[in-house]
Amino acid sequence: MQASVVSTAPFEGQKPGTSGLRKKVRVFQQPHYLENFVQAVFDTQTRLAGGTLVLGGDGRFYNREAIQIILRMAAANGVARVLVGQGGILSTPAASCIIRKYQAQGGLILSASHNPGGPDEDFGIKFNIDAGGPAPEAVTDAIYERTTTIDRYLTIDADAVDLDQVGSARLGAMTVEVIDSVSDYAALMESLFDFDAIRQLFDSGSFRMAFDAMNAVTGPYAKEILERRLGAAPGTVINGEPLPDFGHGHPDPNLVHARELVELTRGPNGLDFGAASDGDGDRNMILGRDFFVTPSDSLAVLAANAHLAPGYKAGICGIARSMPTSQAADRVAEALGVECFETPTGWKFFGNLLDAGRITLCGEESFGTGSDHVREKDGLWAVLFWLNLLAVRRQSVAEIVIEHWRAFGRNYYTRHDYEAVESDAAGDLVDHLRILLPDLPGKRFGNHTVAYADDFSYTDPVDGSVSARQGIRIGFEGGSRIVMRLSGTGTQGATLRVYIEQYEPDPARHEQPVQEALAPLILIARELAQIEARTGRAEPDVIT
Ligand code: G6P
Ligand code: ZN
Repeated sequence: MQASVVSTAPFEGQKPGTSGLRKKVRVFQQPHYLENFVQAVFDTQTRLAGGTLVLGGDGRFYNREAIQIILRMAAANGVARVLVGQGGILSTPAASCIIRKYQAQGGLILSASHNPGGPDEDFGIKFNIDAGGPAPEAVTDAIYERTTTIDRYLTIDADAVDLDQVGSARLGAMTVEVIDSVSDYAALMESLFDFDAIRQLFDSGSFRMAFDAMNAVTGPYAKEILERRLGAAPGTVINGEPLPDFGHGHPDPNLVHARELVELTRGPNGLDFGAASDGDGDRNMILGRDFFVTPSDSLAVLAANAHLAPGYKAGICGIARSMPTSQAADRVAEALGVECFETPTGWKFFGNLLDAGRITLCGEESFGTGSDHVREKDGLWAVLFWLNLLAVRRQSVAEIVIEHWRAFGRNYYTRHDYEAVESDAAGDLVDHLRILLPDLPGKRFGNHTVAYADDFSYTDPVDGSVSARQGIRIGFEGGSRIVMRLSGTGTQGATLRVYIEQYEPDPARHEQPVQEALAPLILIARELAQIEARTGRAEPDVIT
């Protein structure tokens, strides 16, 4: 079958953000828009020709159409084999697992993660490299560069591939293998966690949980692993059907968007354990009865207890967290005598550390936790890790976390988001903070004295690359911090994120309401950044 060459012209703004190229569906539906980006991947990632590509997405609106377009282009660009998830479904961590397991040269994942889906909502595409992780900046920069000059793309004329039947088909000279979306991933989870202990926990009859798949990609994964392999009661997985619009939901596992789950864990009859994952399955939220585990605490608790899971029983070699993530994990690393790294926001920054064997676990405040088992954060993995701990320790979620605070101290933590702020105002706000920074050290605000203030810059310890201007850090004596940065994942205006953290070593003071404990620092942040004057917002839109 002859490849045809289609003339095209560059679109502006095809620069991948924190996690791939995300735009409104209607932007992607413009003729040549998706094609230009995909061709830029093939033009710059030349090992894909003659190689294997993994392809799948979170099932959101436009997923199937995009997959057919990409399959035809892959065939025209000389890809030898594409592994595509059945029904076009692959969670982000499953795609990472499959890239690694089958030694593919890369993967294209179709998702806008936790952003809503539907004809008027978001779509996205990201390229993952052969190690299984998100493309590093050098790669995304090269792809973007190519999109600015692109003048043609390659495709073939062919019928749509049947994505619903597992099996092999030809598309031109290329083999398309439609693979079970779940089995490779489920096998990996079985190798890491104590499935027997978790099965016994479910069998005991005294443990009740729900997993909210938020009508996104993890439904089939959670049903297979939790209900079928581990014997959790049928119906444990709620909202388990992947829907193109996520059932009009916002598939972001946090206290605001996973309300239904939060309610199920409330009160004396509340469930013992609640967990949720996002659109593409890489985020997680962990709840106990009347208890929310912050993602920062979750990373610290998993690190401190890692030896209880078979996959980590030999111990962990290091921990990394993103800069805005609380320093709770640092204290565990110190106690374990292992290295701890602070990286910019974005999972891609963990890749080199994982590949170099410098860290085993990593996590972000943005509901991401993961390890060296794949090169993406992994929602269900975190849930299974927690289930493993609950099964072995036979304690409640709250007991485990409170004991952790007693041993390590508590890092009170919150994030305040100001969404869809006017972009110029948000940029000015950050510029104004940058000007203030040099004068802040030594200044007192109430009980808090500034120890350091900077715009975070990261030098990758493995390849020496430098990522500057990654967010404003204001550190106080005693370990409290205010961090402010603009989100890199939004599609409308700017989102200002304000992260507040305060260390409390005294167990007698570990059970204060979080917003109350942090109120003085919240006020300092608002005043320093002149948030209301500059954005017109007196209060944040989302508090987590
Ligand atoms: C995505 C990335 C994460 C990142 C998060 C928040 O989920 O995969 O690595 O932490 O977005 O990014 P943002 O720039 O919106 O704060
Ligand atoms: Zn995600």
